[in-house]
Amino acid sequence: MSGRLASEYSTWKKLQQTYDVQHARLILKDLFAQDPNRFSKFSEEYVDPTDKNTTFLLDYSKHLITQPILDTLLSLAREAELETYRDKMFAGEHINTSEDRAVLHVALRNFDDFKIQEACGSWKGYTGKTINTIVNIGIGGSDLGPVMVTEGLKPYAKRDLTAHFVSNIDGTHIAETLRLCDPERTLFIIASKTFTTQETITNAESARDWFLAAAKDKAHVAKHFVALSTNTKAVTAFGIDKANMFAFWDWVGGRYSLWSAIGLSIAIYIGYDNFEQLLKGAHGMDKHFKETPLEKNLPVLMAVIGVWYNDFYGSQTHALLPYDQYLHKFADYFQQGDMESNGKFVTKGGQRVNYQTGPIIWGAAGTNGQHSFYQLVHQGTKLIPADFIAPATSHNPIANSKHHRILLSNYFAQPEALAFGKTEEEVRKELGNGASEALVKSKVFEGNRPSSSILFPLMTPRTLGALIALYEHKIFTQGVIWGINSFDQMGVELGKVLAKNILSQLNQPSDVTGHDSSTTGLIHYYQKHRKE
Ligand code: F6P
Repeated sequence: MSGRLASEYSTWKKLQQTYDVQHARLILKDLFAQDPNRFSKFSEEYVDPTDKNTTFLLDYSKHLITQPILDTLLSLAREAELETYRDKMFAGEHINTSEDRAVLHVALRNFDDFKIQEACGSWKGYTGKTINTIVNIGIGGSDLGPVMVTEGLKPYAKRDLTAHFVSNIDGTHIAETLRLCDPERTLFIIASKTFTTQETITNAESARDWFLAAAKDKAHVAKHFVALSTNTKAVTAFGIDKANMFAFWDWVGGRYSLWSAIGLSIAIYIGYDNFEQLLKGAHGMDKHFKETPLEKNLPVLMAVIGVWYNDFYGSQTHALLPYDQYLHKFADYFQQGDMESNGKFVTKGGQRVNYQTGPIIWGAAGTNGQHSFYQLVHQGTKLIPADFIAPATSHNPIANSKHHRILLSNYFAQPEALAFGKTEEEVRKELGNGASEALVKSKVFEGNRPSSSILFPLMTPRTLGALIALYEHKIFTQGVIWGINSFDQMGVELGKVLAKNILSQLNQPSDVTGHDSSTTGLIHYYQKHRKE
């Protein structure tokens, strides 16, 4: 991030030449055949520097790289001054330049500074009953992190407590959730960094109306509504007492905020000790990122390999494929984490980039995806690098772990099939004489489709903390290489402004002015057909 475009770096040019000359020869089958030690060379066991029991294995051997290519990719990170920017982040410098803010979510994992009292159990509702339901109302970073982590760590949850998450402005979301709640036993957590987000404030107001319809007295709101925010003024204006506000700071980016007071629903749901373990796991990864040479630095390795596909192979997307039902929201979470961070076409210096920046992140829990979109990943025309993520041990070893063994056999098989495929010769042999040419061709798997595999002993709060931080630092590294500001989100503003204007024009057709014919036509159709 030296002020130059990434494509001007000498290492970038070298990578382009390398790609042009070598990519046709980078065949995983051959690379493995040529080097029996490929797995040990291109895999690394992470051991939490502060807790040797928190480990995972990253296997990146099934990537279209050689040692010289990887070395050049790492030199690219150096040429982009990754180490300098990493140190600036940890030092609290204002690396979010457009908003003139520090980026210090890493400081939140210094949990000594962050005390949360457990709000339920001893917390009673307005009729003296114990709270048994929490409803987190928030959106984007004030929703996705808490949702993903409470799902991911459900085995650690207090099962007598139900957690709901309401995000969408669609009234269906809050309405269906409130149907499941008892006003006497529900705590609403209004999570909004700015406390101005239209969806969150509207949902919070509807929740308050619903609550007051039962509780009658406004004084009872204090026992059932808390706020997580940086904006004390707006919180108190909403009617939530300052004493019920858990504060945080503008240097916590929304999509990096689950470590802050935004994590209250997580802390309540899994207990504060487990929440602290989550923070510690992330802290361990922070130390690893900060102190490990780039050659062994796992987020950096993942980031530069991602750049190789994104910018030289022309891959458009990156799939996150956890073989763990508890992690079924992992890809949703990193859709915001990655795409809101690195979906930018302008560098920090204001130049239009002439290369690709952040990939489209998507994915779903295995094995479900195998029965829907994997066809395209195996035999489609696009190159889709993927991360396969799994625990060696299940929290639910039912039927003598039969389920888990089947799950893991798929977790091992899919990267193997993607990398090595099935040749025409093998298909012919299998089908025997008489098979049509078309059938033979349709059963060929070209292979050479790259993936990483991440395997860990058991999903614990600490392991999940490390995994999330791993991806956060990967995103940071890629943003530095591309020279963009990974910590603002200007791209979400325009739609918000237009929606505000349109909202004021929805009453009657004559109000609809200043739009193109398509937008005007759509609004007119809506006005004709609505029944409200
Ligand atoms: O969608 C834009 C955004 O600002 C996200 O970055 C953020 O996570 C989300 O809205 C919610 O913002 P807030 O926490 O301020 O309500």
